[in-house]
Amino acid sequence: MPKVTFIHDDGREETVEAPVGTSLMMAAMQNSVDGIEAECGGCCMCATCHVYVEEEHLSKLAEPEELELEMLEETAAERRPNSRLSCQIPLKDELDGLVVRLPERQV
Ligand code: FES
Repeated sequence: MPKVTFIHDDGREETVEAPVGTSLMMAAMQNSVDGIEAECGGCCMCATCHVYVEEEHLSKLAEPEELELEMLEETAAERRPNSRLSCQIPLKDELDGLVVRLPERQV
């Protein structure tokens, strides 16, 4: 199972494991990682599952779909070039070791 590390705004790090196919958002929720709201439950309709993907991992991700790009306009925290919505990132073996930072706020 791929391991993913979430780095909180205060520097805390949490590393979790989740099965391939689980979204990054669900991996956080199922492991009680705080800092992701996911108000829409993963339908790409709320932008409260915002994360900053560490630069070296960005190329391993599929390009965001149009809907994700639209929703990234709605993030509560600053949108950056490495901003993604975690519900739109399905985990796969190649993403083992992925590191993402959580924004200061989601709403
Ligand atoms: Fe709502 Fe990701 S959970 S956009």
